[in-house]
Order: sequence, then C-alpha cells, then structure tokens
Amino acid sequence: MRMYDLIIKKRNGQELSREEIDFIVNGYVKGEIPDYQVSALLMAIYFRGMTKEETSNLTMAFVNSGDKVDLSEIKGIKVDKHSTGGVGDKISLIAIPLVASVGIPVAKMSGRGLGHTGGTLDKLESIDGFKIELSKREFINNVNTYKMAIIGQTSNLTPADKKIYALRDVTATVDSIPLIASSIMSKKIASGSDAIVLDVKVGSGAFMKSLDEAKELAKTMVNIGKSLNKKVIAVITNMDQPLGHEVGNANEVKEAIKVLKGQGAEDETNVALTIASYMTVLGGAFKDFDKAYETLKEKIKTGEAINKLKEFIKIQGGNPEIVDNPDKLPSAKYHIEIKAENSGYIEKIDAESIGISAMLLGAGRQTKEDKIDFGAGITIIKKIGDKVKKGDTICILHTNMKYTDNAVEKAKNAFKISNNKPERPPYVYEVIM
Ligand code: URA
Repeated sequence: MRMYDLIIKKRNGQELSREEIDFIVNGYVKGEIPDYQVSALLMAIYFRGMTKEETSNLTMAFVNSGDKVDLSEIKGIKVDKHSTGGVGDKISLIAIPLVASVGIPVAKMSGRGLGHTGGTLDKLESIDGFKIELSKREFINNVNTYKMAIIGQTSNLTPADKKIYALRDVTATVDSIPLIASSIMSKKIASGSDAIVLDVKVGSGAFMKSLDEAKELAKTMVNIGKSLNKKVIAVITNMDQPLGHEVGNANEVKEAIKVLKGQGAEDETNVALTIASYMTVLGGAFKDFDKAYETLKEKIKTGEAINKLKEFIKIQGGNPEIVDNPDKLPSAKYHIEIKAENSGYIEKIDAESIGISAMLLGAGRQTKEDKIDFGAGITIIKKIGDKVKKGDTICILHTNMKYTDNAVEKAKNAFKISNNKPERPPYVYEVIM
C-alpha cells in the first residue's frame, strides 16, 4: 500500500477500506507516514466526507492505537456522558450524583477546557483537595461502592487521535463532521463504558453553529455507536447563551450545588435532568424517559441528590463542607459590573465571547503551563428575553487581575439589546437514538 495512492483515492471521492485506514493511522503514529501526506488526506476527507463504514473504521483505528480501559469488574451497565463543549456547561457535575443516586454506575473519564469552553476536571479541582488522579483499583472500588468516580484521561488513550487532532488544529481541518465524530467516539469507546449519552451543543457558544450541522454530528456519532454495539443517545441542546448563570470554575461548582438543591436556573436544571434521565434509561433503571425524569426530580426534592454530591466530593478527597457552605470555594478579589447601554430586551448573548472573556479573566489556560484562577469567571445576570433598563447590570466579571480591558470589551460586546422581545431559545431541540 502507498499513502500517495490512498490520498488520490480519497481525493477522488472513493471509499477507503478498513485495511487502508489502519495502514494510515498506524503508519502515522509510528512516524512512518509524514505530516504533509496526512495533512493532504485530512483535507481530502474535509471536502469528500466519509461513509458510515469509513467513520466507524477510523474510530476503531483510533481506539486500537492505545490503551483500552477494562471496566468489566464494575457491576451493572456503565454509563458515560459527553458534551461537545459549551460555556457554563456544568452538566456533568449535576448528572453524576443524580445518576448514581438511582444506583446506575458512572465511571467517568473527563477532560480539561478546550478553547473557549470549560472542562469538568478544572471545575472539580477548584474544590480544595479534590483528586482527579485515582489508581485503577480506587476508581473501580469507588464505582462499585458509591456508583460514581471521575478521573482524567490516561495518557495513552487514543494516541492516534491526539496526534491527528494536533495536525487538524494547524491544517484547518478541525470542523469536519466525520473527523469530529470519530475523535470523540474513539475516546468514549476506549474509556470502557457500555452506554453513552452525548450532549451535542448547538449555537453561538458551541463548535456546531447550526442545527443541521449538530444533527448530522449527532447522527454520525449515534451510528458509530450502533456499528460498534454500544448504546448511544444524542441530545441536541441549545448553546446560544451560557447555560445557567455562572461561567468559571468555582462559580460553576456553586451553581451545580444550587441545581442539586432545587434552586437552579430553569435551563440548567432542565438540560441536566434530561441528560441524567437518558443515562438512567440506558443504564436500565427505568423503561421510559418520563418516569426517569420525574424520579430524578424527586431525588433533588428529597435532598438525596445533593447528599450524593457531598459523598462524591468526600470519596475523591475534596472538602465536602463546600456543599453546605459554598463561600468556602475560591473567589476573586475584583468584581466588575457591566451595565446595559440602552433599554429593551436581551436579544443575543454571544456565548463564545463570554467564554473567551472568562479565559482572559484567568478562568482558563492559554498554554498548558498556565495556572487557572479558580475564582475567576462571569455571572450572567440577564439572559435572552429578559427586559433591561439602561444602567441595569447585565453581567459581573470576577477576577484577580488588575488589567481587564480586553475581557470587559469582549463581555460587553457579547450582549445585544433590542426593542422587540425575542423568543427564548428552547433548551432541548431533538433526541437522536
Ligand atoms: N472534541 C474532540 O474530542 N475532538 C474533536 O475533533 C472536536 C472536539
């Protein structure tokens, strides 16, 4: 086989076989195929797309390039969730204790922030003492005993995806649906869960900006799951504005606590209950979604859900007192209020700009070595559809930095106020299974 011929084949819109995809992926990981040839192939894939078969084969080639986590010692159907990334997306912090509260095991591997979006591990690390590095034994024991555990990805999980993702990043080939779908699904499949709920975000703060693109990504990922005998449900949810009111690490933990105490914002609570309910349905706790939703809502009312979060923090070494006393979480020194420049209704909030502003305030890393400021972030006071008067506070920036002009500018420009009351965006668009 010659890489040159395979580039021509894809460039001409023909289908690559499993053997050919394995040849490319293995050759690239071993350093036998150079970056420039894989770059050309990625661009051919970007324009020509991939068939269902090719996408599944690419996913499995990524999975087989590294470690596969063996969770067979965990009893029951292990359910995972994945979000394609958003701003203020703290759903995992809420869903893990909710799902565990009905006895369904969640063995979760999570990531850090990517671009303008936050990461679950960074959020959890804002809790004093919280450990995201557990031994394999601790991880399995925690899931068997308490039904929940979270760790960072092992370094040798899907190394082929890691190498190809870095190349996509510099060759303008990130936003290709088969490449995104195989990248995400390979990591989920290598992490060993039996069932996966995908939260596919669409809107100004998501990687998918249109509903059509989000649907196609969701269908592609569900098809990959089916072809590999995994139960997968994709929920397409709105990301036209930050979810809930808080963006940042400690801020988002505080808001997750509120949701689990029954005091959360409606959008956040609704999306979290939806994702968690599908997880429990896939895990076999309920036959239908409505029953799952009602039961989980009840777990919030009775206090079982918040107690489960307390237990989760405690078993991973964190200080559980933050649940009763969230003021013990890190906070920032300076608070800058952004005011409405005219009266009307909030028509748009560019969630990506809010995410970038939060990063500039110190809530994210610009480079791998950067330290996160856990107290930095943004509180969104007014959301889409809310009425505002000139001079009302629309959001508050939290930071320890003295120079914040860029962040202030970004946050201010993220809001658009108009005279007409806009429709509030739906929380959930569609469920694909
Ligand atoms: N997230 C991933 O893990 N991979 C992609 O390709 C895009 C988003």
